[in-house]
Amino acid sequence: ASTLGAAAAEQGRYFGAAVAANHLGETPYASTLDTEFSSVTPENEMKWDATEPTRGTFTFGSADQIVNHAQSRGMKVRGHTLVWYSQLPGWVGNLGATDLRSAMNNHITQVMQHYQGRIHSWDVANEAFQDGDSGARRSSPFQDKLGDGYMEEAFRTARAADPAAKLCYNDYNIEGINAKSNAVYNMVRDFKARGVPIDCVGFQSHFNSASPVPYDYRENLQRFADLGVDVQITELDIEGSGTAQADNYSSVVRSCLAVSRCTGITVWGVTDKYSWRAGGTPLLFDGNYTKKPAYNAVLAAL
Ligand code: XIL
Repeated sequence: ASTLGAAAAEQGRYFGAAVAANHLGETPYASTLDTEFSSVTPENEMKWDATEPTRGTFTFGSADQIVNHAQSRGMKVRGHTLVWYSQLPGWVGNLGATDLRSAMNNHITQVMQHYQGRIHSWDVANEAFQDGDSGARRSSPFQDKLGDGYMEEAFRTARAADPAAKLCYNDYNIEGINAKSNAVYNMVRDFKARGVPIDCVGFQSHFNSASPVPYDYRENLQRFADLGVDVQITELDIEGSGTAQADNYSSVVRSCLAVSRCTGITVWGVTDKYSWRAGGTPLLFDGNYTKKPAYNAVLAAL
């Protein structure tokens, strides 16, 4: 196959990109997206500050734009994200525990029902664990006021809101075997043992020289899959250029393909020009939408 989406489809996988609604009007942006990718993730448009900026007032305009663009062209959509400490409007942090619990459940329910049946996987919770060796939960309004149990409550509420969507836990620095991924692993194992609904784990996979592709990536993906969840590479980008970057991309793709429950890969942007890594060149297309060596490596590895 000659595109990322078609080549991934031959392997039974999707190949997606994070998309910003405000770039869809740029012709080469949209044509690269539409030609190459089979799934999209709204980069910011489904986050809490975008969808419920004031309590009880939901705004779906730019997220709808992305979902409509994708669906009319046969692309799948990943939902990102419902419960996260960041890009959270100030009002959420000002609520007391009782109000916060109902606001969280209402947010999950309203957003998921708006998109019911149109999202293949939802990041129900994002980045809920600390970095480093503690294996502890990260401080957030949810964690601090509701305790560990907010997480399973969020997943149960999500299952009820859209039973067709796969429900994912998504995080970074969990790509290799380490204290943080062990903590997530233990949570997923506990959820599966107790019947708490969880279907997938998303591995963000933002790699650079300080945080390289781990040697045990495949092994780590496999141990999660062995718990009975799908795994997805959800926000892939890799700093660098040329052959080194291409080799790293190739190894990520091979790690996913080696794990039968690794169902898809999403890169965190279409073009280096709009990467969230300011000044960086971590993606598959350069600022002129020209295919980089990393693109050719991914296509060859698929
Ligand atoms: C980033 C976006 O790419 C930026 O545009 C925004 O300013 C900040 O968020 N982990 C995540 C993503 O789960 O939502 C983040 O996206 C990147 C890190």
